[in-house]
Amino acid sequence: MLNSDLSQLRGSPFDALRALLGPLSAAPNLEPQTLTIGEPQHTPPQIMIDALRANEHLYGKYPPVNGTPEQRIAITNWLDRRYHLPEGMVDADKHIAPVNGTKEALYMIAQVITERAGHNQAKPAILLPTPYYHVYHAAAVMAGADAVFMPATKQTEFFPDLDTLDPDLLDRTTAFYLCSPANPQGTCASKEYLREALRLARQHDFMLVMDECYTEIYDREPPAGILEICKEEDGSLDHVLSFHSLSKRSSAAGLRSGFCVGPEDIIKTFLNLRNFAGAASPLPVCAAATALWNDDAHVEENRALYRQKFDIAERHLAGKFDFYRPQAGFFLWLNVGNGVEATKRLWTAAALRVLPGSFLSVTDEQGVNPGDDYIRVALVGSADATEEALSRLVNSL
Ligand SMILES: Cc1ncc(COP(=O)(O)O)c(C=O)c1O
Repeated sequence: MLNSDLSQLRGSPFDALRALLGPLSAAPNLEPQTLTIGEPQHTPPQIMIDALRANEHLYGKYPPVNGTPEQRIAITNWLDRRYHLPEGMVDADKHIAPVNGTKEALYMIAQVITERAGHNQAKPAILLPTPYYHVYHAAAVMAGADAVFMPATKQTEFFPDLDTLDPDLLDRTTAFYLCSPANPQGTCASKEYLREALRLARQHDFMLVMDECYTEIYDREPPAGILEICKEEDGSLDHVLSFHSLSKRSSAAGLRSGFCVGPEDIIKTFLNLRNFAGAASPLPVCAAATALWNDDAHVEENRALYRQKFDIAERHLAGKFDFYRPQAGFFLWLNVGNGVEATKRLWTAAALRVLPGSFLSVTDEQGVNPGDDYIRVALVGSADATEEALSRLVNSL
């Protein structure tokens, strides 16, 4: 009676962590700290609260599936500022689908761009990195595709190796999920890499699904974005979909607001599907999103808070666990030798909850899991909490 594809879904990394740590007690006499989930703890900007309050009389209205004109214009203005795009390259009414958080939109888009295999036809494939954001795999499975994992390890600069892809696989590929800045590794794809990914997408007729939700949380240089590559190529959005979110940029994970930018026909079809299967954002949320995309000052303040934590991390971890300062995002990806054992030890000896890298990755046919040696540490708390947590971490491993 159930859809048999559901049996392929992998469990949530957070459920696996609960099962791992459930039987163990946290170190006594220490305040437990959670460094697992990528949920920024910085105070959300006052402009967001003000906009929500000023528009609270609109909660009674059904909101439009494509948000408001002001919201879409704020988004395109931000894209133009952030990526130095020529006017009109991204059109607020044609190329933008506001979404209630990128999580479910990243999931739903696979169904829009993947044709199911007919009788005697090759099954479609969706490429995704490992380690990866767990939604990509569910998206591939429920769209009826083979989920093809591509290791993103230190040897390949933490991005999937594009040179080893089999042309036959690429020909049945409908989508390639690529996360840059990468969660969990905190690395940014170079312009050359993005250009090659786009070239492959156009040559083999698949969509490059860019998850760029960490693009505003960077250390020194703003990460390159796929729209810059589109601009430098031919100015068209052909074969590209890019997802952005306010959850990290504005420390507003609970607002549930982001957007997808892409070619007009796909955005139109996506919005049409969302008419049936997506929840539109309430109008006060659209107003808050408008205020946030129009403002860069709070994002600069936010970045400064993360830089301060990267400094703390560097002080505690330089020379240990293959530490490198993340280029972007807010995760540390530490090589601790055995991620599962280190996670247990950090809980029992230091009352720190971290995530084993293997819970974010898959084991291949040779039994290799690219996350086995690693833990992911989310630097989402205050500077003081980070100082305390990293000092405990170093003293316990
Ligand atoms: C890589 C990545 N993509 C997408 C999301 C989803 O973000 P949201 O749904 O809050 O926009 C997250 C959230 O943690 C993430 O880490």
